[in-house]
Order: sequence, then structure tokens, then C-alpha cells
Amino acid sequence: MDNRPIGIFDSGVGAFSVLNKLVEVLPNEKYVYFGDSGHNPYGQKTSEQLKKLCKCIVDFLIKNDAKIIVVACNTATVAALDYLKDIFDIDIIGVINPGAKEALRVTKNNKIGVCSTVFTAKTHGYLNEILKEKRENQEIAVYEEGSVNLANIIENGFEYNEQNEEIIKEFVIRFMDDIDTLILGCTHYPLVEDLFKKYFNGNIVDPGMQTALEVKDLLAEKNMLSDRKDEYTVKYFVTRDPDTFRNVAKNVTKLNIDDINEVSIEE
Ligand code: SIN
Repeated sequence: MDNRPIGIFDSGVGAFSVLNKLVEVLPNEKYVYFGDSGHNPYGQKTSEQLKKLCKCIVDFLIKNDAKIIVVACNTATVAALDYLKDIFDIDIIGVINPGAKEALRVTKNNKIGVCSTVFTAKTHGYLNEILKEKRENQEIAVYEEGSVNLANIIENGFEYNEQNEEIIKEFVIRFMDDIDTLILGCTHYPLVEDLFKKYFNGNIVDPGMQTALEVKDLLAEKNMLSDRKDEYTVKYFVTRDPDTFRNVAKNVTKLNIDDINEVSIEE
């Protein structure tokens, strides 16, 4: 049994797509959420910048007593997960492997599309993970597309208007081949999943639930689940104005967002 909090981070509000699911499957845990909104968007940073930021954040979460770290950002997962695992002696889970496994589980025609940031698409975060996880003789086609600004638009408060809807529509219709499965490969995107559903009627994979289940399994296996009977708590740390974070967050989560604190980290 371990009543320390679960640490989770992203470049801002994107981690809510994972935290919402974590609280569903682990409703009595404590959480510490780091939203690096001051350095958003991560999708436009270099690998080196991302590693540096992620190292500072994991340090911070460990100092805040985290028992496990969830990298709730696809871009950070591709850029820094292996590096973080090498330098820290704590369990660290990213979102790409759970998303890749879920897509392989649900696809029937073995044609998978991935909507992500440009960074995740260019570095083939999902393609590489899918190739690792697929069955030996499984012929799989993976189509990866990145958006330059969608994560940033969501981070700053997505408005349901024609212009923003058009961005998602164009993103989805870029997949010319007949994919039957679409991975939302940026944690900001499930926050507007309804629009992806409007323009794509195959399987939509949001890695959040699969990631949450893997966190639960790992904590159970290590006997590190909390034995608290009280409801979850979340303490938030952000690197940009907490009011902006709160205003956007209240549209993407039903969780308690009272305890938001501003901090700074080095880039
Ligand atoms: C971002 O932080 O800019 C994107 C988040 C993600 O890739 O999941």
C-alpha cells in the first residue's frame, strides 16, 4: 500500500484527457498534476528542449512525493520517455505504447491513422511502437499526420466555430486510404473528440483509458495502490497564469480544479 500521489504532466490542459480516465479507474488516489502551459506548445520544441523540460518536471513531481509518473503528452513521450527512464529511479509510463496496443486490438483492416503534433508524426512515435507491438506476420499500414497548431488552439480554449471545426475536418480527411482506426495521438485532441467523431466514423482510439488501466495494473502488481477511502484529490502546478488554466480546464473536466498553483521551471 502506498498513499503518495500519482504524478502526471503535460504541456498544459492535455493531461486532463488522461487524468479524467485515471480518476474513473482509481477514484481514491491523490494526484499531483503539472501543466507546463508556460512552455506550450511542446509540438514545436526540439528533442533536447523537451528532455530538459521533462527532467525538471519529473524532478519537481518527485520532490512533491509522486510514487509513479505519467507522461500524459505524446510529444514528450516520444522525445523523452526513454531518457527519463534512464535517469530516474521511479516507474514512468507514457501514452504512446498503450495507444498503439489499443489501436492494434481494435483494427480489423490493419490500416491505422494517427493525428498528432508535427513532432510526433515526424519522429514516427506511433509507427515505431505499433511495429514493436504487432503480431509477427501482421501486415500493418500506419498513416501519420501532424497539426501545427491544433494543440495550441485547444490549450488556449477551443471555441466551437466554423474555422476551428474546419481545422479538424481537414486534418481527418487527409487520410486518403481506408483506415478503420484513428488514434488521437496528442493528449489535447480527445478533449474535442466529438468533432473527430463527426468527421470519422471508424474506431477512435483515445490512449487515455488504456494508459489509466496500465497505471492501475502496475500499481496493483507492485502493491502500491492507495488504501484511502476518501475521494481523490488533485493538486495542480502550472507555469502560466492559473486563471487561464482554470478557465480552459473547466470546459474539459468535471474534476475539482480548486488547488492551482503557479511555479516556474527552466527551459
Ligand atoms: C503539446 O504539448 O504541444 C502536444 C501534446 C501531445 O503531444 O500529446
